[in-house]
Amino acid sequence: MLVSTEQLLKQARQDSYAVGAFNVYTLEGVRAVVSAAEQVHSPAILQVLPSALELVGTALIACCLEAARQAAVPMSVHLDHCRSPTTITGALNAGISSIMADGSQLPFARNMDFTRRMAALAISMQRTVEAELGCLSGTEDGITVADRKARLTDPDQATDFVDHTGVHALAVCIGNVHGRYHSPPELDFDRLAAIADRVSIPLVLHGTSGLPDAMITRAVSMGVAKFNVNTELRDAGIAAGGRYMRLSEKPELVDRMQTEIEAMKHPVIAKLVLFGSAGKAP
Ligand code: G3H
Ligand code: ZN
Repeated sequence: MLVSTEQLLKQARQDSYAVGAFNVYTLEGVRAVVSAAEQVHSPAILQVLPSALELVGTALIACCLEAARQAAVPMSVHLDHCRSPTTITGALNAGISSIMADGSQLPFARNMDFTRRMAALAISMQRTVEAELGCLSGTEDGITVADRKARLTDPDQATDFVDHTGVHALAVCIGNVHGRYHSPPELDFDRLAAIADRVSIPLVLHGTSGLPDAMITRAVSMGVAKFNVNTELRDAGIAAGGRYMRLSEKPELVDRMQTEIEAMKHPVIAKLVLFGSAGKAP
């Protein structure tokens, strides 16, 4: 069933678990996430990146919305990392449940201004808004932020940012990285505690792929209510599809699709269990 992202996050916070938001690009990805969530009776979020929308248009949002409506568990559809007001407006008009207005690469005042304008628009349409304070390093959606340009979230700025923008959820930068971790992940839990102390809205952690399980469960216990997962699921699908094509004498597209769906379901199920959301769907 299709529900609002705010409702999913509120419920997660109230019951001390987190919701997984999984990036999907194809129908196989959508099917994998829905089927995994149904299998373990978990709520989940289907999220799409602007690059995928650029390629296939808002039909991808329509596909996710319909899959969420048909799902036996509560789900919503989220626009991930978007810097373009035009794309945000298009996604909202296409019925998306929530947006991430991503001004994280802008200086603080401009990030706040951009986020406030996008939040006002989304809220006027009763949608949920996530924003990011600080800036993550790594590569996402073809955009690379070098380590030296990354900024950790300043807990003192977080209060102002949330108060002035009206967002429903805040993505924090505490040492998490998009894509692959090139050295063992180090999360600044003291910083997370300071942010959680000052801000009452649900917190979001990006760059979940590659984070050790213990860090994830610790982050949940400290107020993280949404985890974004892209690389682990995308890599599993690509690898399985490639393997199928190499090993099959007479490849069939529908069999490759099925192989990819099954392969992507595994990391999704593992994460839903880890986030504590498995078994939480009514
Ligand atoms: O917005 C999406 C993510 O932050 C995903 O990060 O590719 O490291 O899982 P990941
Ligand atoms: Zn991200």
